[in-house]
Amino acid sequence: MIYFGCDYYPEQWSQWLEEGEARWAEDARLMAAAGFNVVRLAEFAWGLLEPAPDQFDFAWLERAVDLLHDHGLQVVLATPTPTPPPWLLDAHPDITQVTADGRRLGPGTRREACANHPVYRERSRIISQALAAHFATRPGVIGWQTDNEFGCHDTGRCYCEHCQAGFRTWLAERYGDLDALNEAWGGAFWGETYRTWLQIPLPTHSAAQRSPSHLLDFYRFSSDSWRDFHAMEIDILRRTCPDHFVTHNLMGFFPQLNYYDLAAELDFVSWDNYHYHGATPAGVAAAHDHMWGVKERNFWVMEQQVGQVNWSAYNPVPPPDFVRLKSYQAIGHGADGVVYFRWRQALGGSEQYHSGLLNQAGRETMGYREACSIGQELARLASVLEGTEPRAQVAILLDYDSRWALQLQPHNSRLRHDPPADYSLENPALEVDRDAFHEPRYLTGRAYLAWPFSAAYTAFWERNVPVAVVAPESDLSRYKLVCAPFLNLLRPAVVENLKRYVAGGGTLVLGPRTGFKDESNRLFASPQPGPLAELAGVTVRFFDSLEPERINVLRWEQIHGARRTEIGLWAEVLDPVGAEVIATYTQDWYAGEAAITARRHEGGGHALYVGAMGGPTLYANLFDWLLRDLDVHPLIPSMPGVEVCARYGEDGRRVIFLLNHTGQVQRFTLARPVQELLSGEEFSTFVRLRPGQVAIFEDGSQFGQAL
Ligand code: GLA
Ligand code: ZN
Repeated sequence: MIYFGCDYYPEQWSQWLEEGEARWAEDARLMAAAGFNVVRLAEFAWGLLEPAPDQFDFAWLERAVDLLHDHGLQVVLATPTPTPPPWLLDAHPDITQVTADGRRLGPGTRREACANHPVYRERSRIISQALAAHFATRPGVIGWQTDNEFGCHDTGRCYCEHCQAGFRTWLAERYGDLDALNEAWGGAFWGETYRTWLQIPLPTHSAAQRSPSHLLDFYRFSSDSWRDFHAMEIDILRRTCPDHFVTHNLMGFFPQLNYYDLAAELDFVSWDNYHYHGATPAGVAAAHDHMWGVKERNFWVMEQQVGQVNWSAYNPVPPPDFVRLKSYQAIGHGADGVVYFRWRQALGGSEQYHSGLLNQAGRETMGYREACSIGQELARLASVLEGTEPRAQVAILLDYDSRWALQLQPHNSRLRHDPPADYSLENPALEVDRDAFHEPRYLTGRAYLAWPFSAAYTAFWERNVPVAVVAPESDLSRYKLVCAPFLNLLRPAVVENLKRYVAGGGTLVLGPRTGFKDESNRLFASPQPGPLAELAGVTVRFFDSLEPERINVLRWEQIHGARRTEIGLWAEVLDPVGAEVIATYTQDWYAGEAAITARRHEGGGHALYVGAMGGPTLYANLFDWLLRDLDVHPLIPSMPGVEVCARYGEDGRRVIFLLNHTGQVQRFTLARPVQELLSGEEFSTFVRLRPGQVAIFEDGSQFGQAL
């Protein structure tokens, strides 16, 4: 079954409307009418659930749960810890975080509390325990969301005195003695050799750049702090509510927390899928594939945008079919739950401009009407989708240490910002084969990651080749091709895993800057890519960080004859040692030198090294060649902007989703007649998709050529 519903704040409506709680019944009726089966409640309600220390008022929440349950709706409750109540902040003003430049956040709003503040932790434990115990056996409650979006609003890292103390303890545990820390951080250079743990500062705002090793450890410590806070809540829920699931709503490519660690103890992850101005279908698809890959398991969308948001640069009304398209895109990528944010636009308080399924006056919006039709369709699709999940033959590795290392030292000003919409590296020649659908803007604010990651991802996405975005330590043997576009920092376990993968016959594509940094964020003393040099059969002679106007052009020696591809921003000159040259530079004083190499191993393994940074075209040239060899095919070839994704059942069932993200009608020819599952319509010679339309089919082998 697909869980389908909305995020609801009954507590707001009883205060605003004359009818008070009587309105809840009308809300529940409209939810049930839309085909909803689940509602998320209470993630910000701490101040109402515990109006004074240890005085709990769960009665209103009970009434809401019971009423929803009476209407056939199940409930996901949340621990309300993102919003410490006024009495707590009043008694302990130092609960709020301190920024890197020493400013303390003001109390109120949400997410301002420090994960390491002992009183905040203790009070979070008390409210979570009380709430869990109260609702453990309440009919209708099926699971829990922990807190809400850890790290949101740039609160993943705090520089307060509790974090100062916590950081020192964390370091002492990690390094054991100060000599090891001093050696790892390389502080001897500026005389920063620490003689006691108490001398170690937080990496606050400083005159010059701090040691990247110091910074990376602080990023790890901060991520671990929220992981530990999270573990406290998960532990309470596991012990108190053994029959309920536990999830957390992540934020796609959020850069501050290591999501593999944060999610390790959850049953499944959820995420919040918003599309600010400039979000693209490929970017959203990539985020879904990462959310699937965090646990290599189906996930939920716990907040799906249904109309305008209140926080984007511009806030356009999503066009008709937006909710349909985004809901089915999520399901096609492995969502087993789609929950809309929010039920009704708020009359007061924060986020007044944020749309809901109902508008502020309680009228149905376009989003609500689309949800109603999806609700009916999902009831029909339930049996077809039961037990299905996406299945990828290709993985892209996403590594948080490497993200952080590169964010700390992008070494090229352009890599601090996101790629331009056309991925052009500011060269008109590259613009021609890009269109609006391929812009990787969704990754905004993720800076470095966006360049190499979305270039590789987009190349697969354009080919309708499913991808899983997974941790570099995961079991790679299930994938035929593994692409690691930015594995700058290598931990020993990752090196071993990649070697094992290639030894087992896998094909590995490494990107520029691979293997420059060791686990402590120092340079390896051996030539790049350090411990992977032998596997790749190559070393990097030097790298060039290019000004935007300096474009180089690659010639694909072995694989594409005369074809040329432009690259920019980063160029490494490679010395093959056992690898063959796949592409060479043709410009600049290193024209003729190797840019891409490949080493074949006995047993069929293949290790490629891409030393240049380019757009999707660069990777497309490589992947077209590799995928053919590996017998990996597009699910169905399509025209640009028509996405195809699939879910598979144990019994060999395959459910294909066609998503027309373009503004034009699109057609697919058919080899055999086929029935479309949403409409029940039979197609005999071709399938026609209007702009924004979704079509779902079983099997998919009926498809011939895309028109
Ligand atoms: C986040 C939060 C929600 C709400 C939305 C607004 O995802 O989890 O509470 O603030 O953003 O878009
Ligand atoms: Zn702190």
